[in-house]
Parts: sequence; structure tokens; C-alpha cells
Amino acid sequence: MKNNSGWQRSYAEAPEYLRDFSKAEDPDGRVVQELLAMTDWKRKRVLEIGCGSGRFSGSIAKESGAMQWLNLDRSRPLLGLAQLAGTSHLLQGDALSLPLAGNSVDVIFSAWVFSYFWGDQLSKVIQECSRVLSPGGEIWIFENEAIDIPDAMPEDGRMSALKEEGFIKQSHVLTELRFLSLGQAEAVTEFLMGSSAPKPDSRGRIPHQVQLLKKSFG
Ligand SMILES: C[S@@+](CC[C@H](N)C(=O)[O-])C[C@H]1O[C@@H](n2cnc3c(N)ncnc32)[C@H](O)[C@@H]1O
Repeated sequence: MKNNSGWQRSYAEAPEYLRDFSKAEDPDGRVVQELLAMTDWKRKRVLEIGCGSGRFSGSIAKESGAMQWLNLDRSRPLLGLAQLAGTSHLLQGDALSLPLAGNSVDVIFSAWVFSYFWGDQLSKVIQECSRVLSPGGEIWIFENEAIDIPDAMPEDGRMSALKEEGFIKQSHVLTELRFLSLGQAEAVTEFLMGSSAPKPDSRGRIPHQVQLLKKSFG
């Protein structure tokens, strides 16, 4: 992973770029509604790994009826933004060494994070998930289809690594990134992705395909 990439800089020092990117994602809530239609998390204890600016704390966390929604991220600046936006139950920590007791959550949810875990790291994170999950637990993740992020695994490698670790694709949603303006779209995507940023249209929109994947334990 390149530590000076735009994504890494947004975690370390410029969290507002990731927040604005996240706000542009799934503008009609299609991905969220697809997940909610496929899951029943009522009264479950959910851990979100890589919650970023806490953008799902007002949607999935509430609408799912989960008993507990813990928001974990490694980035203090992003957790700071999440707190400012009113997100509670925030936890600073690394997915490679989760600061939680065994058997303490029922479901793990993670959006656009697992593709950062290359090779042995992916296995290590899954071991950690398995340790903290209760028997019969599940991991649900969102990943991009057809957009390669510079410092994440490229599309092919990413999907085959996740498949090898037991993730099964459950659904595929066509949506778009919808920024407030062309200027915002260009500023945010160029900061995060540099010259490989996808080109927005004149209204600041970019097609986006999202996969929903699940891994079940036991
Ligand atoms: C692409 S962002 C997605 C953020 C959020 N899920 C969203 O959809 O807006 C990746 C997030 O994963 C977090 N992250 C990356 N590596 C991590 C690790 N090893 N442990 C915990 N969080 C991590 C980053 O700080 C960042 O918030």
C-alpha cells in the first residue's frame, strides 16, 4: 500500500475528502436498501469495520434494528468527523488486531475496506473476525465492481482473494457517485485517485457498480 496516496492522506490528514466522497456514494440509497432486504439484523450486535466518517450510522445502523452498532476505524481524524456528525459508539482500532473480546458480536459489516487487505493481511483480518464473532456469525461487505482504487487490490485479484477466503457474491447494484457539482467531483476524485480518477459528467456524476458479498461462519 502506498502511504502517500490520496486515500491514505484522507485517512491521516484530510478526512473531509473521504467524507465528501462518501456523501456522493449511493445517493438514492439503493445499495443500503438491497442490504437491508437481504439481512435480518434485528437485536444483533453489529461491528462495522472501517466506518470512516460514520456515514452508515444514520441509515443501516438505525433501519436494521440492530441491538448494538459499534463503529470501528483506525483513523482518528475520520473518527473525529464521525463524532462531530453525532455518531456514537466509536472505537479506534485496527482490523488486524480487533480491540474486542471473543464472541462479542454477531455480524460484521464493512464497506469498501476489505480490498485494502492484501495477501496475508486478508487472512489475518478474517481470523480476527472469526475470533470476535459468535458461532454462526457473518461478515457482509460492499466492494466496487469495475473501478480500481490505486492502492487497493485490482479488480481481478481482489475478487479472487475474497472468493478464496469464502466470500460469496449476493448481489450487484448499479448506482452512481453524485457530487454536488462538477467542480466538487473533480476536486474530490483527483485528490483521492490522482490521474486514475474516473471522469465525471457535466453534472458531477460517475457510474458506480457495487457488489454485496457475504462470508458465513459455521
Ligand atoms: C475507502 S474508506 C471507506 C470508509 C467507509 N466505510 C465509507 O464507506 O465511507 C476505508 C476506511 O477503512 C479504514 N481502514 C483502513 N485500514 C484499516 C484497518 N486496518 N483497520 C481499521 N480501519 C481501517 C480507513 O481509515 C477508512 O475509514
